[in-house]
Amino acid sequence: EQINKGHYEHYMQKEIHEQPESLTTTMRGRLIHRGSSKSKSVLLGGLKDHLKTIRRSRRIVFIGCGTSYNAALAARPILEELSGIPVTMEIASDLLDREGPIYREDTAVFVSQSGETADTLLALEYALDNGALCVGITNTVGSAIARNTHCGVHINAGAEIGVASTKAYTSQIVVMVMLALAIGGDTISNQTRREAIIDGLFDLPNKVREVLKLDQVMKELAKLLIAEQSLLVFGRGYNYATALEGALKVKEVALMHSEGILAGEMKHGPLALVDENLPIVVIATRDACFSKQQSVIQQLHARKGRLIVMCSKGDAATVCPNEYCRVIEVPEDVDCLQPVINVVPLQLLAYHLTVLRGFNVDQPRNLAKSVTTQ
Ligand code: G6P
Repeated sequence: EQINKGHYEHYMQKEIHEQPESLTTTMRGRLIHRGSSKSKSVLLGGLKDHLKTIRRSRRIVFIGCGTSYNAALAARPILEELSGIPVTMEIASDLLDREGPIYREDTAVFVSQSGETADTLLALEYALDNGALCVGITNTVGSAIARNTHCGVHINAGAEIGVASTKAYTSQIVVMVMLALAIGGDTISNQTRREAIIDGLFDLPNKVREVLKLDQVMKELAKLLIAEQSLLVFGRGYNYATALEGALKVKEVALMHSEGILAGEMKHGPLALVDENLPIVVIATRDACFSKQQSVIQQLHARKGRLIVMCSKGDAATVCPNEYCRVIEVPEDVDCLQPVINVVPLQLLAYHLTVLRGFNVDQPRNLAKSVTTQ
């Protein structure tokens, strides 16, 4: 059942639309909610014997490739906030190229849908040799990364067939948010924040169901963008990862140049590209970066940028500088879960762009689901 397309035309389409269910499976049995607010907690069985060591580590290093790297990037801020431990990011091949420092006092977290990616696996060997505690986050029970790490968490998203990762991405983020909650522990100072996140997790599948209703809106937008050469996606904070992942989806399946840009870097280069022709998606949902994103929109507008703004429901009039600006209104969520919501319209956009451009959605040119060679 998992591996047939059901009533969908493509696996990627099916996998995008089944995210409310895959997220539910990811969280099943791991969120404990016993009625009174005090008893809301997270239980990650595969980590329980190692949590103390992780909490004592000097640094947490996320290591992955492609979409898995982006998922870790999305979870980085909440892990830093709840654990107070510095979190650094490594693209597996780059860590190996540099032979970057990994220490015994580090916790190295390996994120991989397949659990078999050669670069990530080699980085794991390297981290093991350097004495770090190694944690695996994979979707594949019995995979090399699951077997060779000291401990870990399976994301339980179900088989993912489309080469472009969609449901694994959102499940990976949710697992890493749960990881942040588990490492953060139940300190009094974190209690309100922790409970808001756990409540948000319980409600997340419903919010994803709601955002999936944008399917037709994204198809219309895809029609508008079908002949473009390029698409920029601006994000920051929790949604820098969303910008990278949205651009990666467009690039890998729709075969259109697309670049995710950290909005804070806009004036240090990307602004030179802005004119009335180049379409630009700006992610400006409500969080601590909202007012900064409003000013980015103003600056892009001042340079006649062709804007497509993603904002929280009800914010269209607040964020749009003029009537030509296109809007994608999404349900609002707790800041650290918003990337799960925000990526969905971009997945849908990439999907529709690909179909409209006549390319193979499930097997993009030159790419493989699992890259097992270096
Ligand atoms: C390949 C796939 C990507 C994936 C990346 C990492 O490039 O095409 O979709 O994100 O590998 O794969 P992993 O299985 O390690 O998550």
